[in-house]
Amino acid sequence: MSDLKERLNLMLMGGMVTPTIALGKKLGLFEDLGAVASEASPADARTVADKAGCKERYVREWLAVLSCAGFIEVTPDEKFWLTDEAKHEFSGMNNLSVAYMTFLPAVVKTFNELADAFKKEVRYGLEYAQFSDFYSVMDNVTQTMHDAHLIPDYLPQIGMLDKLEAGVKVLDVGCGSGYHALKMASAFPKCEVHAADISEEAIGMANESLRKQG
Ligand SMILES: C[S@@+](CC[C@H](N)C(=O)[O-])C[C@H]1O[C@@H](n2cnc3c(N)ncnc32)[C@H](O)[C@@H]1O
Repeated sequence: MSDLKERLNLMLMGGMVTPTIALGKKLGLFEDLGAVASEASPADARTVADKAGCKERYVREWLAVLSCAGFIEVTPDEKFWLTDEAKHEFSGMNNLSVAYMTFLPAVVKTFNELADAFKKEVRYGLEYAQFSDFYSVMDNVTQTMHDAHLIPDYLPQIGMLDKLEAGVKVLDVGCGSGYHALKMASAFPKCEVHAADISEEAIGMANESLRKQG
């Protein structure tokens, strides 16, 4: 196979496996598989499905795809388990690539509208709210990328630590879920932090987080 054909083939397979991983993240299937199965005691599809509260028929397909892709271990009698490494990388938001895979369904939902938006006669583009779950998925990715680094690593790099500690006005434009604004407000109590977003859904999420965090 030529190099281009080989790359296209790999891209196609990755493109098919990626939403399967996103599906597992949405349904919590990796965590459920990890809870009921181990190398010493692998689980069949029914056991995993029962744990997940899902249909056995669908969970079996999901397990089969990710076994063929090499992310889930499978025994000759079709029982499944996760290695410790896979358990860690697929659980919660431990792995940034997995976190980004959860973006795919949000983006694909607008496929036809996006194609229309390319056309010269269509005046407007897409709104964030048209992507399903955009703000919660964005929030997951943001937290995966920034939680450990925003305060100790990123902000010192822009040379504003002294000012932030002394207290300045901060404006987060395009705040999404409000994650950064709230994190900064709590790390730098002398600052006056404002946050703005074009989307009502985002502002709703940010207000909800503000309420929860007090
Ligand atoms: C890529 S998201 C980033 C969200 C958040 N800052 C984060 O890192 O998780 C971009 C954000 O900008 C907002 N946005 C886009 N255009 C805007 C505008 N003209 N005014 C204010 N917010 C805007 C979107 O609604 C969205 O929340």
